Amino acid sequence: MSTYRSGFKSMLGLMASALLAGCIGNDDCGDPAERPWCDTTMTPQERTTLLLDEMTLDEKLSLMAGDNLISALTGLPAAGVSDGIPRLGLNPVYYSDGPLGVREGRATAHASPLAIASSFNPDLAREVGKAIGNEVKNKGNDVAHAPTLDVVRIYTSGRVFETFGEDPYLVSQMGLQWMQGLESEGVIANAKHFGVYTQEGLIGVPYLPLSGVIGSRFLYNAVIDERAMREIYLSPFEVLVKQGGLDSIMCSYNYVNDESACGSKRLLHDILRDEWGFEGYVLTDYVFAQKDTVDAANSGNDLEMPIGIFYTESKLKGALEENGVTEQTIDQRVGNVLRTLFDHGVIDRKNYPANEEAIDIEAHALVAQSTAEQGSVLLKNDNLLPVDLGKITSLAIIGDSSDRFINGGGSSMVMPYELLTPRTVITERAEAAGVTVYYHDGGDLAAAAETASSADIALVFAATSSSEGQDRTCHRLTCLEEKIVGRDPEGLINAVAAVNSNTTVILETGSAVLTPWRHDVAALLQAWFPGQYGGPALANIIFGDVNPSGKLPLTFPESAGDTLYANNFSRFPGNFKKGPKGSLFEVEYDEGVMVGYRWFDDQDIPVAYPFGFGLSYTSFSYSDLTISGSLPNLNISVKITNTGDRTGSETAQLYVGLPNPSDSERQPPRQLKSFDKVTLAPGQSATAEFSLDTRSLSYWNEASENWQMAKGCYRLFVGAHSRDLAMQASLPFDGGTCE
Ligand code: BGC
Repeated sequence: MSTYRSGFKSMLGLMASALLAGCIGNDDCGDPAERPWCDTTMTPQERTTLLLDEMTLDEKLSLMAGDNLISALTGLPAAGVSDGIPRLGLNPVYYSDGPLGVREGRATAHASPLAIASSFNPDLAREVGKAIGNEVKNKGNDVAHAPTLDVVRIYTSGRVFETFGEDPYLVSQMGLQWMQGLESEGVIANAKHFGVYTQEGLIGVPYLPLSGVIGSRFLYNAVIDERAMREIYLSPFEVLVKQGGLDSIMCSYNYVNDESACGSKRLLHDILRDEWGFEGYVLTDYVFAQKDTVDAANSGNDLEMPIGIFYTESKLKGALEENGVTEQTIDQRVGNVLRTLFDHGVIDRKNYPANEEAIDIEAHALVAQSTAEQGSVLLKNDNLLPVDLGKITSLAIIGDSSDRFINGGGSSMVMPYELLTPRTVITERAEAAGVTVYYHDGGDLAAAAETASSADIALVFAATSSSEGQDRTCHRLTCLEEKIVGRDPEGLINAVAAVNSNTTVILETGSAVLTPWRHDVAALLQAWFPGQYGGPALANIIFGDVNPSGKLPLTFPESAGDTLYANNFSRFPGNFKKGPKGSLFEVEYDEGVMVGYRWFDDQDIPVAYPFGFGLSYTSFSYSDLTISGSLPNLNISVKITNTGDRTGSETAQLYVGLPNPSDSERQPPRQLKSFDKVTLAPGQSATAEFSLDTRSLSYWNEASENWQMAKGCYRLFVGAHSRDLAMQASLPFDGGTCE
């Protein structure tokens, strides 16, 4: 096992592990004769009503806040704990992070969710969710603070690596399956962060979840129109609530339209409960998300985590006496938590015992490996990959990121059970084939170039650091963050590419980065943060055992000046402006729905690598677009043929150009609405199938406050990525015309 860098949170976790084992509640609900709410034949709501009748006010208030601050840092005995009430048969509830694996001692460190999204394989998302759910449970937890459903707006934001990318449809599809996989293990998904949480802030403290100072996540107010909010940022949550029965949501640190997200009646009550029919409970992000007692209680914020700051007994009692919080409201808050716990069987069982032996560590490691394989994206290949070990005599591995655990900082940082680095596995395989392997850590550019110059092929590994709590300071590989620790991945690529024309770059980054050096290298593979088995996964791709099939869930811009927030302080990180409820920075989302590739397409800006793009070792052709049904219910299919000489997988993508409802309500030129992945042997063909319905063809009409299809021409585009859409059709709707 190789060594790896560990984060402060996780280090504390390991140190505390021995001390904190075994804090579990050993009772199930109890005898219905004595505790009528324990009768499982009643509905969760009936049981909740009976239990609330029995509870004292103090008992109710005690359930409105978590009870362990230290655990939030250590991850032990869980990320969060809400104590139970033994008198009533209520055990503690244990909460765990997160989207890349369990932050609690050692665990399987999965690849970044960006890799899951890149696979465009919802079945894989389900498998990862299930593997993580199994560890969440076998480490004794009931709820997981995951998946992350935030839609990427700012490429330099510190938590992009935790997300499924920049398209709300892709985020929804991956999030839904991930959640269902997790919940199939008997734990509750707590999707986060609701809502419009898109930045950490600049000048922060990496690895500790303290926030950037300028545009801080705790203090920014998202000024956003209803349409952009609905269509882009809230829609993944809506899909999980409506299609997945999501029962737990984490509200975010920021403010939205002058209300704190955790104190917004508009978000937590009107939209989430009244409109979407959410029946679960809302808990706050940790420590600084809740900003007050009264607004939070009255708007629908059920549980303050990880401890009560505003939901303390004294503040809640004060609010009850003086400030218009009623006992009925308290009952609603507590009732939402209890009903969900009844519904998911939590109250009817003992706490899950911490039982690491029950975890199939090797099987989960293979899921992690498979994600890194399916989620790596081949961005360039001038006939260099895959490397045939029989045809070379030497290979240089350059860059210490080939030999470290590359991960993101903050609450989603996982301490891997086992680490197989790319350097270890590639060296083993190459040497077994009689190939000489050279290595240089890249610390001295000239010496690294010297090492690379004599090898047949140079593999340069370049990583960036990303962390909760601070946004990156630039879009390049080498920003202030790298300079501070003496790393210069971009300089390294240039130095090696100058002396070796067979240079392959393997990027381990937590987001899209600028790639000005791409013209000088022969091949480029984006591996994101590839997880604990990134080594075997990348070796399999480089040596051709696995044919890459990942496609980008984010646009790679040509230059930082092309982004929607370039030279626009009001869009990011926001202008200093005090809001009525305590926000300090105002962030204008006045690009509306033109986020991600929608922005670049709308502005007609060339990009380095478009959304949905990814190469294979084989090639595919598209033909025979067929459309059946009539608007809005359409079934669309296209024939895909493997025209190369290797078996490979291709994700065909369907984009729709919706008609502009009016001059002031412009639509993005194209929006991803469906995708289908097929695997084909050489010469083989298959049909990729897509379907559309009213909702997928609708926009949010602000005047009538609902989803609507506009009159006009609906343009369908099918192809290999967002800028290669050769198969097209146009369909008029509601008396509109297509020219
Ligand atoms: C993060 C959440 C996380 C929580 C608990 C916060 O800092 O924003 O995503 O679930 O910590 O660790």
